[in-house]
Formats: sequence, structure tokens, C-alpha cells
Amino acid sequence: MPSGPGLLRCASRPGASRQATFGPIATSAAWTVLLVCALGTATPASAQNKGATVFNASSGGTPAHVSSLTRPAVLEDLSPDPRTVEVRLTASPARLSLMPGSATDAYAYNGTVPGPTLELREGDRVIVHFRNDLPVPTTVHWHGLHIPAASDGSPFHPVAPGAQHDYVFTILRGAAGTYWYHPHPHHQTGYQVAKGLYGAIVIKAADDPLPASLPEKLLVLSDNRFLGDGSVDLPDEHSLQGGIDAENGREGTVLFVNGQVMPTLTLRSGEVQRWRVINASAARVFRLALPGHTFIHVGSDGGLFERPVEVAEILLANGERAELLVRGTAAPGSRTTLQSLPYDRYVPQTRPKDWNQPRDLLALQYTGEAPMPFVALPNVLRPIPALDTTKATAVRVMSLSQGMINGRMMDMGRVDVSARLGATEIWQVENLVGMDHPFHLHGFQFQVIERNGVPEPVRRWKDTVNVPKHETVRFIVRYDNYAGKWMFHCHILDHEDHGMMGILEVQ
Ligand code: C2O
Ligand code: CU
Ligand code: CU
Repeated sequence: MPSGPGLLRCASRPGASRQATFGPIATSAAWTVLLVCALGTATPASAQNKGATVFNASSGGTPAHVSSLTRPAVLEDLSPDPRTVEVRLTASPARLSLMPGSATDAYAYNGTVPGPTLELREGDRVIVHFRNDLPVPTTVHWHGLHIPAASDGSPFHPVAPGAQHDYVFTILRGAAGTYWYHPHPHHQTGYQVAKGLYGAIVIKAADDPLPASLPEKLLVLSDNRFLGDGSVDLPDEHSLQGGIDAENGREGTVLFVNGQVMPTLTLRSGEVQRWRVINASAARVFRLALPGHTFIHVGSDGGLFERPVEVAEILLANGERAELLVRGTAAPGSRTTLQSLPYDRYVPQTRPKDWNQPRDLLALQYTGEAPMPFVALPNVLRPIPALDTTKATAVRVMSLSQGMINGRMMDMGRVDVSARLGATEIWQVENLVGMDHPFHLHGFQFQVIERNGVPEPVRRWKDTVNVPKHETVRFIVRYDNYAGKWMFHCHILDHEDHGMMGILEVQ
């Protein structure tokens, strides 16, 4: 692979200095003007000048767009039956202002990036009337949901341009949590997500242990890279940058929360907020930290933990989700920044030059109101029954190398693992190479039992687990309820698209 200084030069916006693109800590602290406006998620280009723009002197004269964090729209439930959620979802080309100040030919679900949120409750029967108005085949994959294989939106079930498809499934008890949806067409997932196709799924519990009074915030994290004309930068794979993207996974220079660049979230001193965070980026790993604050980590991919854990930071690899509580422990009027701290997931040859710079994601602004008393939080959230390792009938070894699993590339006509419905098995995922690969299994939530031979201290439901360079992760899974063919793959979308994927058949 090529290496050397200046590798990322072609990715920066014209007129944007490297400092501005990579957002040092000093940037947010130096703001003297705070204009709050309610520019939503990405809006049609014609409406973009409704947003306020301030001049940010500390970053070399780059205009910084300041707006309050907005929540993506919720998909409207068309069903009169209270136990059925029936929605319409359309993927189509759209010209949007993805990046403040420019217009982009994007792909969007129902016209917005991110797409609208699918809000569900445990027990709901779900009908999604999907329509593909794109010029290319696509699918909608419901990442993390335990639903029939025919509704999984895997590459086996493409929806042709102009065609419609109904996804029908039921949300089982215990599935409450934060999930997301994205396209999954063969070889084209990275391209379609980069064009703007991704959205959140929130499943509410029938009996949620956290106080209902906690204000809830959804943070869909993503990144993207643009050319000077505003188009999404998707270089030819034979170009220098294309080669780097294929190796690292395509990282963007612009970071988004709900499609917004550095939005502001307000918090009252003493308030406790519940955040649901999704890493919807193709390759960027977020190492989340909030200076001066800790997080109370309460959940991950498959919902809440047994107990809350107080942590200084949370590592969120591609496809993973986190539920956390943020406590307003600072004084009224103070301000801090949600950051992604440096995380070295790369091989040295293609590691971005600025990988060791923290990146700003969102400003947290305290209101001037007097502190409110903290609400009492539960010490116990819910029981997570342990999958029994003595019942495991097989150990599946998955060796990850660069672009391959067990030395093979994805073949749609091959079954890599055959298993019986209801069986419990252990997967041993070994990363043989010097970069991280986040490993994802469709259809079934699993429990990590060991990392490098060290037993996992806490039990959690996961569907995606980061396997760091040269490390081994063992997880246990039971193939409940749904037979069929399921994908497993690296969730760096470039790796997945190049064939770092296999097929599990449950019969
Ligand atoms: Cu998030 Cu196979 O996907
Ligand atoms: Cu998935
Ligand atoms: Cu990978």
C-alpha cells in the first residue's frame, strides 16, 4: 500500500484548512458567537440558506455552521391496529445540502439523511412498504433485528429499480434497544450508505427500568467526504485514495450527528439525559468522551445491560450502538464538547496522518437555569440469561485476514457454516492481521465470552464486536426461531463489499 504525507489531501474541501477539517479541541472553546437555529437534518438545497452561519476565526476563516441538534423524523404509523406498525419507506435520489453551504446528489430514505426513525415496541407486528426509486438495485437490512431471514434485506433479496417490496416481521419480547437500517446490496453497500442511506430503529421496552422522565436523545454518528463541487467523494478504486479506502475503509473528513455538523445539545445542570448512539459510518471508529464528565453506560447492541457501568469513554465500532446516560454535573452556563478521541485501528502504512487528533462531534451547552436535583437511577436494569457454554455443540473458527474470512472471499453460492435450528455454538473470531475488523452476524444476538483468553466480565447482547488487530474474540450464540441463510461479515463496508463476508445456513 502507498504511504507518506499528504495522503488525505485530496479529501479536504477547498478553502478548508487541515485544522478546520480535523477540528482541534481549541476550535469549540474559541467560539464567541453562538447562533442557534433549527435547521433540521439535511434539507433540500433550496432551503439551505435558512440556517445560520457564523465565522469561526480560530479555524482560519472557515464558516462554521451552528445549529441545535435535531431528531430525525419518525416514520408515520399508518395502521389503526395498536399492535401493528405499518410504514412507507422510499429510497430515491435527492439533491440535499448534506454539508453546510453546498448541494450534493445524494440517495435518501423519504427525502432525508439520515432517514426517518422506525419507532417500535416489543410485540409489534411491523409492515414496511418499501419502494426503490433508485436507478440501482438495493435492499433494506434491519441491522441487529432477530426476524425471519426472508425479511432480513440481505444480498439474497435485492429489490430492483422501480420495484416495491413489503418487509414483514414481529418484534419479540426482550428485543428493546437501539438498532439501525441500511442497504445491503451485493458489493454496493458502502456506495449506497455513502450516498446517504441509513436510519435509526428504536424499540421501546414493555417494562423499561429507566425513569420515563429522562429526556431521550438519538445520536446517529456518521462521516463523509466531499469533492469541491459538493459531490460525495467516491474515488476510483485504482486511484491512490481509492486504494487507501479499500485498505482502511472509507473514512470521511466531515463528521455528522443526525446529519448535522457540530450541532449543539442543551442540558440543564443536574439533568440526566438518555442517549442512544449509533455508529453508522463505513469505517470510522468513534471513541466517545465528554471532557469533565463520565458516562453511565447502560446498554449496547441488543439493549440494556444487567447493571449500569460508569465509564470515562465508550468505543463504538462500525455498526455498534450504545445506550448511555449523561448527567449534567457541570455548572449552569458551562459548555463542553462531545469528542471522538484518537483510536489506532489502522495498519501503519495507510494510517491517516491526523489519526491522533481528537475530533469534535457535538457541543453540549448548559442552560442558565438553576441546577435541578438528580433523579434516582436504578442499580439493576434487567436480567440477561447466560447462554450455556456446556451446551455448545460446535466451535466455529473464523480467521480474519485482510479482505478474507478463513482465506476465502464471499461466494453467494456457497454455505460457509451449516447449523441446526436451536443449536448453541461458539464462534472464535481470530484477527490475524494488523488492523481492527468489526465482526457482525445477522439474525442472532450473541454474548461475548472471552477476549484473548480472558473471560468477559459482563454479559451483554451484541450483534457486532470489534476484533482488534491480532486479537481473538469468542462469543456464544443460539440459533433460535428462524432458519435460513444469514450473512456474517466485517462491518467496514469496503471490506464487506470486497468479499470479507460468509454465509451461515440454519436448518
Ligand atoms: Cu449492518 Cu450485514 O449489516
Ligand atoms: Cu446486520
Ligand atoms: Cu475488515
